[in-house]
Amino acid sequence: MRLKDCHSFSDFRELARRRLPSPIFNYIDGAADDESTYDRNTKSFEDCDLVPSVLRGVENIDMSVEILGQKLEMPIYCSPTALQRVFHHDGENAVAAAADKYGTLFGVSSLGTVSLSEVRKQYSGPQCYQFYFHKDRELNQVMLENAKNAKVDVMMLTVDTITGGNRERDLKTGFSIPFKLSLSGITQFAIKPMWALNYLTHKKFSLPQLDDHVDMSDGPISIGRYFTEMLDPCLNWDDVAKMVEYWDGQFCLKGVMSVEDAKKAVDIGCTGIVISNHGGRQLDGSRSPFDQLSEIVDAVGDDIDVIMDSGIQRGTHVLKALSMGAKAVGGGRFYLFALAAAGQHGVERALELMKSEIERDMRLMGVSSVSELNRENLRFR
Ligand code: LAC
Repeated sequence: MRLKDCHSFSDFRELARRRLPSPIFNYIDGAADDESTYDRNTKSFEDCDLVPSVLRGVENIDMSVEILGQKLEMPIYCSPTALQRVFHHDGENAVAAAADKYGTLFGVSSLGTVSLSEVRKQYSGPQCYQFYFHKDRELNQVMLENAKNAKVDVMMLTVDTITGGNRERDLKTGFSIPFKLSLSGITQFAIKPMWALNYLTHKKFSLPQLDDHVDMSDGPISIGRYFTEMLDPCLNWDDVAKMVEYWDGQFCLKGVMSVEDAKKAVDIGCTGIVISNHGGRQLDGSRSPFDQLSEIVDAVGDDIDVIMDSGIQRGTHVLKALSMGAKAVGGGRFYLFALAAAGQHGVERALELMKSEIERDMRLMGVSSVSELNRENLRFR
C-alpha cells in the first residue's frame, strides 16, 4: 500500500498503521476509557441526511470561510496537535507547509516538537498557538509572550485537559514523553525499520515551547499523566479573562461543550469557541460536538465564531456541520494519519482529497458558496 492508494480517512489510517510502531499508532488512534465518545463523534453525522437542491447552475464553487479574523480557502483546518515529529520526522514543518499551500489554518501546540517562532517565520498564512495552561504560571506567561512576539494570528486555549483522560491503549503500550526508543520497546520499533531509521537520523526529540521550564529528568510519563501532573486543575474563568485581556487579539476557547460556557466565553471577550471533546480522548461519555452544535449556534452564533472539531472524516461531515451553523471545522486524525503515512505529501493529499470531496459535495448539494448552506439542507431521521 502506498500514498497513491489512499482515497479516504480509513486508507490513511491503514497506511499509518503499517508504517508506525504500534505504540505511536495507538497513541494517535486511541481515545479515553471505552472510546464510546470517539465512536459517537463520527456516527453522530449519520443521524441526519443532506437534502440537495438541483438545477441551480453550480459551476464555480467558493468554499472559503472567515473565522477568527482569518480567511481560510477551505472550511476545514488542521487542528493543532502534539508531538508531530514522533509521527513523521518532518512533523509540524510538514503540516505547516501543506496547510500554507491549501490556504488553511494550522497550529503549533504547547507540546509541539518544533518552535512556534521558527514556523511563524517560514509561513505567513493563518496560524494559531495551542495553549496548555500549566501549574507553572511563569511558564504560562513566557508562552504567552513568545506567542505574542511571534505574532501568531490566533490564541487557542484548550480547556478540556485540566486532568489526563484515561487512555488505556497508552497504558498498555507504554507510550510516553519525552519520547525515547526504549530497549523494552525495541522489537516493536525493529519491525518498522524505516520509521526507526528516519527517527534516529533526524533532529532529536524536543519540546521547544517547554524545554527551558519543564524538568522531565524523572523519566518518561504518559500524556495522561503529563496533563494531570503539569496542567492546572484550578484554571477558571478569571484566569482566562486575564489571558484574553493580555492577548488583546483573536482568542479562541477549544473544548467548550455547554451553552452556558459558550455564553461565558462571549462575556469575557473571546472571539471564537471550538465545540470539541478532544477527539474522544478526555471525557468518555461526553456528548459529540455535532450533536451539541445547534443549541450552541442558536445561543451565541451571532456573537462569536462557533467552530467544531472531533469525528470529521468526510467532506459530507463538513457540509453537515456548516449547514447546522458552524463557521468552520477542525480535524486532527484526518491529517495526522496522512502525516505519519507520508509526511508533507501525505498531508497535502489529505487536504486535496478533502477539498475535492467538499467541492463535489457542494456541487451535488446545489450550493456554490458556504453561505448558502443552512438547516433546510438537513433532515434528521
Ligand atoms: C492529546 C493531546 C496532547 O490528545 O492533545 O494527546
